[in-house]
Amino acid sequence: MTTKIQRTSCVFFVALFVLSCAYSEKFKLCIVDGRGGFKRSGRYCPTLDKPESKAECVLGIDRLDCLRKIAKGQADFSVFTPEDLVTATNSEIEVLLTNELRYTETKYEYEVVAVVQDSAGIASKHDLKGKKFCHPGYGYETDWTRILSNYLEASVIPQSCETKFTITENRIRASSQFFKSACKAGPWVHNPKLDQELKQKYPNLCALCDNPSRCEGSDKYWGRRGSLFCLTDGAGDVSWARLDDVRLHFGLVPGGPESSPEGYSFLCPDGTTRPVNGTNPCIWVVKPWPVVATKRTAAQDIQEFIASLSGADSFSWQAAVLSLIETFHMSINKLEPIEPIETFLEKATGFLNANSFSGCHPPRTIRICTTSIIENAKCSWLRESAAVYGIEPDLDCLKADNTTHCMDAVSHKAADIVMVPPDLLNEAIQKYNLKSLFYETVNDNAKYLTVAVTRNGTTINKLEDLRGYKACFPAFDGVAWNSVVFTLRDKNLLRSCPYTAAATSFFGSSCIPGLPHNEKYCDAVSYRGEFGALRCLLDKKGDVAFISKNSIVDFVNSPIENKFGRITPELFSVMCEKKSEGCHLTWSPVGQAMVRSNSTTLWTEDTLDVFLQLDSLFGRSYKSLTTPLQMFGPYNGKSDILFHDNTARLRNVPMVRNLDNMQRLYQDFLVDNKTCVPSSSSSSKCIVFVLFICVYFAIMWY
Ligand SMILES: *[C@@H]1O[C@H](CO)[C@@H](O)[C@H](O)[C@H]1NC(C)=O
Ligand SMILES: *[C@@H]1O[C@H](CO)[C@@H](O)[C@H](O)[C@H]1NC(C)=O
Ligand SMILES: *[C@@H]1O[C@H](CO)[C@@H](O)[C@H](O)[C@H]1NC(C)=O
Ligand SMILES: *[C@@H]1O[C@H](CO)[C@@H](O)[C@H](O)[C@H]1NC(C)=O
Ligand SMILES: *[C@@H]1O[C@H](CO)[C@@H](O)[C@H](O)[C@H]1NC(C)=O
Repeated sequence: MTTKIQRTSCVFFVALFVLSCAYSEKFKLCIVDGRGGFKRSGRYCPTLDKPESKAECVLGIDRLDCLRKIAKGQADFSVFTPEDLVTATNSEIEVLLTNELRYTETKYEYEVVAVVQDSAGIASKHDLKGKKFCHPGYGYETDWTRILSNYLEASVIPQSCETKFTITENRIRASSQFFKSACKAGPWVHNPKLDQELKQKYPNLCALCDNPSRCEGSDKYWGRRGSLFCLTDGAGDVSWARLDDVRLHFGLVPGGPESSPEGYSFLCPDGTTRPVNGTNPCIWVVKPWPVVATKRTAAQDIQEFIASLSGADSFSWQAAVLSLIETFHMSINKLEPIEPIETFLEKATGFLNANSFSGCHPPRTIRICTTSIIENAKCSWLRESAAVYGIEPDLDCLKADNTTHCMDAVSHKAADIVMVPPDLLNEAIQKYNLKSLFYETVNDNAKYLTVAVTRNGTTINKLEDLRGYKACFPAFDGVAWNSVVFTLRDKNLLRSCPYTAAATSFFGSSCIPGLPHNEKYCDAVSYRGEFGALRCLLDKKGDVAFISKNSIVDFVNSPIENKFGRITPELFSVMCEKKSEGCHLTWSPVGQAMVRSNSTTLWTEDTLDVFLQLDSLFGRSYKSLTTPLQMFGPYNGKSDILFHDNTARLRNVPMVRNLDNMQRLYQDFLVDNKTCVPSSSSSSKCIVFVLFICVYFAIMWY
């Protein structure tokens, strides 16, 4: 009897202890700051430091980072879009959904319907062939993803996978052949030139637009209401639209009706029709509201917690939490029961279906080669996110040991694309026969700018002055090495072949990690890379280091390299021959994606478009308030994974802006520079000679 009481009270005390522990801790809310002015954390998180506050902020890089933090127990809850949830289900993330954030009283953020003109004779979806189609168009992908906007066509048009067309063109072609005509205004593909070409090739998909020759986002029949005007102006037979817009357009809710509902019906996925003014519209696909997701063990508590927030005054910590989870949602709706992602999404008509159309056979998957587990993990999130936003062809992520192995894999068709740093560019081109697909363009403060750096006090004004000096290079055959070789050659300072031997003998005994038999001059392990070359210079193993000008700042700011803070920028001086053009010998973007040089134009176009679309969705200029995924941001706290954090945008040319006219692009020197021509009498001498003759004759004439 006594033991039982003791045991019960013991359990009671343990429970009390656990409970008090649980309640003394604050809930960790994962916050993602938006671009530019949209930074909620700085504004609201300090309020949560108040002792009475029951929540605190954890900062996430992007929404999927928050999702991983919740799964790992580093955060307790955050807000996600239904697309984020689809991404999560494919990544074995376990969370529970507790609340929906609604801004109207409707069950879903929106529902998508097909409205037909009764006179068009469309009794079922099988009658759509040969009809005139009003589509809302493209160019507002954040709340209306391609998946949702293409769902009707994906559901009714047989898939076409002809190998001589890109996937995108196959889709467009299939629609063009299926419908008599359509208005699909706005950009079909990311590349404007290609977009024009496709619109000229398939003009019937623009024929219904108000201005068919332009077929742009400014068209009267573009956009949410545009597709309905297209229908009710009598241009089209069937329109794809949001139900709330349909109700407004036909005056079924208060607001100026644009058209009487008479003569229009909903076309249903089950092959029937219903009058537009009826009470029971048929829905093809819905877009669920954003939701609060929590870690499994805290779901109940967090649901209660969130319910308790409203009604507090606007300077309270409760109001701060609300401002952090949403800015404009009116009502927070409890999900009952609390449920896992799968059941939540299964209830959303069409949503999972829309996200599960299969690609072409044989698949055209683009295989990205990654070089570490963490790179592969980031790549996998990118793959899942791309799929959710309807980007085709799909992506896959393979892993090799390092970039060399990846370049080899790409050249042997075991992978399709590899990110190559400037130091490996020459090898990629010469040895692995790769070509650039796109560049990670950056602003000047992040470019690779090859310069000659000496210890301060050394007076060196031009490359010629360095003859016989000992040099420190980051790597043999890297960007700095090759830039120096080409510059010496162009200055006629290399008088023999091969260039490597000539350049090596121009300098004194130099540190060139990776050059065979260089060990006797330098310890290739400690002096490898940008920082290695600077260490080599500071250790006086060399008199000059050839590195990127921007590495000096990184070196000085590195807590590892500059442990005691004694290294200042003044210790170095950068040689500058042409100040007006910058002091660099060459410049290069931070990285580039490379593919087999004999890839077909078709494949290259398709693949480039995939990455340009990814850049516009997940790069710097994403259009939503926060981003699901930052391609150019840290992943799990680590920098420069797969892409560089400082990448401004992906482009098929190396500069960020067309106006960027920095001279001496490294890559230009690599092309057609395979053969060594020893310099002797140069063209400049020839010009001097001709001038001399001219002057001579001029004087004689005079
Ligand atoms: C819908 O419109 C038709 C024809 O105008 C009319 O007969 C019918 O009563 C309307 N139904 C509703 C529910 O208003
Ligand atoms: C990759 O590893 C191989 C050895 O497996 C090595 O020879 C090569 O230099 C490495 N490449 C890079 C870029 O580190
Ligand atoms: C070189 O750097 C040291 C340390 O910063 C400084 O004291 C010295 O004045 C510099 N010398 C020159 C010539 O700039
Ligand atoms: C491209 O080159 C690879 C070898 O690098 C070869 O296997 C392949 O057949 C070539 N493809 C085309 C289309 O020529
Ligand atoms: C190497 O490339 C540079 C830059 O494009 C060019 O000026 C030079 O003529 C090339 N040299 C040879 C030998 O082709």
